[in-house]
Amino acid sequence: MEPFIAALLGYLSGSIPFGLLLTLAAGKGDVRKQGSGNIGATNVLRTGSKWLAAATLLLDLLKGLAPVIAAGMLWPGETGEVAKAFAAAGAVLGHCFPVWLGFKGGKGVATNAGVSFGLGWPIGLAYALVWLSVLGIFRISSLAGMSAVVAAAAAAPLFGYPEYFPVLAAIAAVIFWLHRENIARLMKGEEPKVGGSKA
Ligand code: G3P
Repeated sequence: MEPFIAALLGYLSGSIPFGLLLTLAAGKGDVRKQGSGNIGATNVLRTGSKWLAAATLLLDLLKGLAPVIAAGMLWPGETGEVAKAFAAAGAVLGHCFPVWLGFKGGKGVATNAGVSFGLGWPIGLAYALVWLSVLGIFRISSLAGMSAVVAAAAAAPLFGYPEYFPVLAAIAAVIFWLHRENIARLMKGEEPKVGGSKA
């Protein structure tokens, strides 16, 4: 029962579409009809507001972190470990497939950053370092995000959290699948850099 409640908690938190809500509230229109159509921070940036993009990034991260931390606090010990993994999966799935938006949401990179910090700070640190480094070097959001997602899965067993490898690997698979168009563009050298526009 606990894993189910944790997954539901995670899903409800993750499914809050902050990028869409913030852009609508700021009068920027429906972000789903702009740029890549994604509701994440990268596409919010394409609406022209760095502040909205930063707020989206932070809130999308927090909605991944909060349910994982809550699961750990609600259920101690081994039950808590399982519950945290389910909350993590629920949060990323909630962001990527929100029931409120017809199951068409974002690509999960920022929410998975929060999830990673919630599962273990060294995992989150690895995520953040790889994300920021790749972004700094290549200026390509999707490449940075996918690199960070792989880094988190690899970091789990390396830094003493082998129990979280399966969920992080499963999340990585989902996030890669959602980036399949980005991957195709990356392979053709056509993926836009951060701050650029995309039809
Ligand atoms: O986090 C989303 C990012 O990796 C790609 O977003 O809008 O460029 O497809 P987008």
